[in-house]
Amino acid sequence: MTIQPQIELLSVNKHYGGFHALKDINVTIPKGSFVALVGPSGCGKSTLLRSLAGLESISGGEIRITGKAVNDTPPRHRDVAMVFQSYALYPHMSVRDNMSYSMRLRKASRAEIDAAVADVAAILGLGDYLDRKPNALSGGQRQRVAMGRAIIRNPKVFLFDEPLSNLDAALRVHMRKEIRALHDRIGATSVYVTHDQIEAMTMADHVVVLKSGVVEQQGAPLSLYDTPATKFVAGFIGSPAMNFVGGIVGDTGRAVTLDLPGAPSLPLARTMEPRRQVDVGLRPEHLSIETGGAPGIETTATSVESTGSVTYLYCGGDPEIVVVLSERERISQGDPVNLTIAPDKIHLFDPETGAALR
Ligand SMILES: Nc1ncnc2c1ncn2[C@@H]1O[C@H](COP(=O)(O)OP(=O)(O)OP(=O)(O)O)[C@@H](O)[C@H]1O
Ligand SMILES: [Mg+2]
Repeated sequence: MTIQPQIELLSVNKHYGGFHALKDINVTIPKGSFVALVGPSGCGKSTLLRSLAGLESISGGEIRITGKAVNDTPPRHRDVAMVFQSYALYPHMSVRDNMSYSMRLRKASRAEIDAAVADVAAILGLGDYLDRKPNALSGGQRQRVAMGRAIIRNPKVFLFDEPLSNLDAALRVHMRKEIRALHDRIGATSVYVTHDQIEAMTMADHVVVLKSGVVEQQGAPLSLYDTPATKFVAGFIGSPAMNFVGGIVGDTGRAVTLDLPGAPSLPLARTMEPRRQVDVGLRPEHLSIETGGAPGIETTATSVESTGSVTYLYCGGDPEIVVVLSERERISQGDPVNLTIAPDKIHLFDPETGAALR
């Protein structure tokens, strides 16, 4: 049995006056999946989510929910619930009344409301807080009430717009596990907007990377890390970010000479077009300082930071190369280092288009 798509975005375009905010977006979201929309500020994430919710009208293309075009369907009839970054709770209402607001609007019975509130409060661990007002809750608890308000509507689709960005780092890590567990338990379809690539990578089944209103790449989290389609995705996914150095492929096509002092040459795993200009991508965690006679990048440690679990080594200057070492190394500022990398870990990009060269 094939899993039916819950949401289909077909050539979706959005113009704000003369500004083209979404450019020919094509994304299919299977039922029950957790999809992250990720990209830098202003790339169109919220616009896309708001278009799904029906809070923005689109200028071209089609949005389908469960097979039905919803372009002209008002938000309340789309069977989606949205959770925002600002929780937008009613300050004068108790947790119970905030969560049950939509039910009270549609005049559900007292018994129905009490049962639904009890269910949702149990799912979210809010049972002890039902009579409190939002200002007597922590940030994480408020965020849970905002989710409760969405869950109580029992929607087909949950839309989240950066719901964790107001929380501190530890609570964010905790809540991202909670949201994912909740998604799995409820079995709904979720679309989650974030600019935090770690959040996207850890929570989602499918990640859509947006840049300037264009889908740069979409796929399983690790496929984006392993085989980025563009230099932008390569630099965006992974932390610390991939190092980029200009270079030129050698005469035999089997090595690349880097634009670095001493013109170091690194062997390649495959044959490339000889004498072609490339941008070379080296992930910090793929570089090592083992000396085994392998040709490498002879450089100098300019600073060393140790977090206890890993060591960040900053080398050279123009451009600086970051290395992440998982072993504790006795390296000090000013020490010479030889950086090596396995040939099959070297990424190459077209300097003009940014497209990955394979
Ligand atoms: N009502 C509007 N009128 C004109 N331009 C708009 C409008 N709303 C958004 N934009 C523009 O559309 C682009 C995408 O905005 P959007 O809010 O979708 O970005 P985003 O990816 O959610 O960014 P952030 O991470 O900062 O929230 C931005 O350049 C923004 O200035
Ligand atoms: Mg936004």
